[in-house]
Amino acid sequence: MDYVNIGVIGCGNMARDLARRCVKLGRCRVAAVTDPDPESLAAAASEFMADTAASAEELCNRPDVDAVIVGSPPGAHLDNVLAAAAARRPIFCEKPLGVTVAECDQMIAACDEAGVLLFVGQVLRLFPLFAYSRSVINEGHIGEPRAISVIRAGYGQAFHSGWRAKRKLAGGLLLEVNVHELDYMRFIMGEPVRVYALMDNIMRGMDYEDQAYVLLEFENGGTGCLHTSMSSPIGEYRVHLQSTKGNLVHGGFSGSLRYQPVDGQVTEVLQADISGLNPYDRELSSWIEAITNDAKPLFTGHDGRMAVAMAECAYRSADEKRPVAVSEVLAT
Ligand SMILES: NC(=O)c1ccc[n+]([C@@H]2O[C@H](COP(=O)([O-])OP(=O)(O)OC[C@H]3O[C@@H](n4cnc5c(N)ncnc54)[C@H](O)[C@@H]3O)[C@@H](O)[C@H]2O)c1
Repeated sequence: MDYVNIGVIGCGNMARDLARRCVKLGRCRVAAVTDPDPESLAAAASEFMADTAASAEELCNRPDVDAVIVGSPPGAHLDNVLAAAAARRPIFCEKPLGVTVAECDQMIAACDEAGVLLFVGQVLRLFPLFAYSRSVINEGHIGEPRAISVIRAGYGQAFHSGWRAKRKLAGGLLLEVNVHELDYMRFIMGEPVRVYALMDNIMRGMDYEDQAYVLLEFENGGTGCLHTSMSSPIGEYRVHLQSTKGNLVHGGFSGSLRYQPVDGQVTEVLQADISGLNPYDRELSSWIEAITNDAKPLFTGHDGRMAVAMAECAYRSADEKRPVAVSEVLAT
């Protein structure tokens, strides 16, 4: 298969952007779209000159749909992914894969059984400064990573109303937003073993936490600390990585990355000077290559599940006021 006919489930901002990018990459067309909201459905059908389907099941079973993008709210991913797996269509599911590890397990089992690809959009790893930080470590400039801290604070109006304000659909801040940071921390530090978290709902915009501290222990003996907030008009994004022979700091989505070995000079790299494919185009190219040429996908259901597991440990830890082993959450 050289050309992929895509079906889109949930035609909001993200899925439409992904579908647009797939078309621009020159290897796909959008065959059909579905969305419970008539306005979103009509807008997507008109933009892509695509047919409409009344449900995810109907869309996935169309003979002209080869593969499916799931861009619905997180709380709907399970049903949508199961529909695509039942129809044996390869899947690109937006993050978070699900809102619990149990949901992720169901999706992974259904896809394994059907023999279909489950790709999860854990795209943060591909953003320039995040990807560059991994290469600084791979190239041995600052030794082995031992402690990582990430601050992500902002004020998203969208989080204070609509589906994003409801735990049932969004999963919570750690799932809807910070599965990105949790996945990035795992990308740098390796597998997580234990999580301790404290969280609060300060502004009451959502029915879940709008602020959390998450402390993590990793298999390599290292530690991590995530501070997230969705009620901060003064936004901030910062990564600090301490390694055995130096450290590294970067500004996330903008600015620069600096690293310095204890016995060397500081090196600064501006985000603007890092070339490469747009992160979303890169993840979609990987998905398309996996479908058309059986290439190894950049992210799988396993990566999605592990990020959800880290968040679920944090929720259990905050509820029960104790550190929670990741194995505990993966076993249930
Ligand atoms: N990777 C990223 O950078 C990134 C950025 C934004 C959003 N996202 C993810 O994309 C997904 C959608 O976010 P968005 O910003 O596009 O939201 P959105 O509100 O713009 O779009 C969601 C769409 O899903 C539809 N929908 C609701 N219930 C549905 C159901 N049961 N089945 C099918 N469709 C349903 C809605 O009508 C809406 O059109 C979420 O999982 C979110 O976490 C990822």
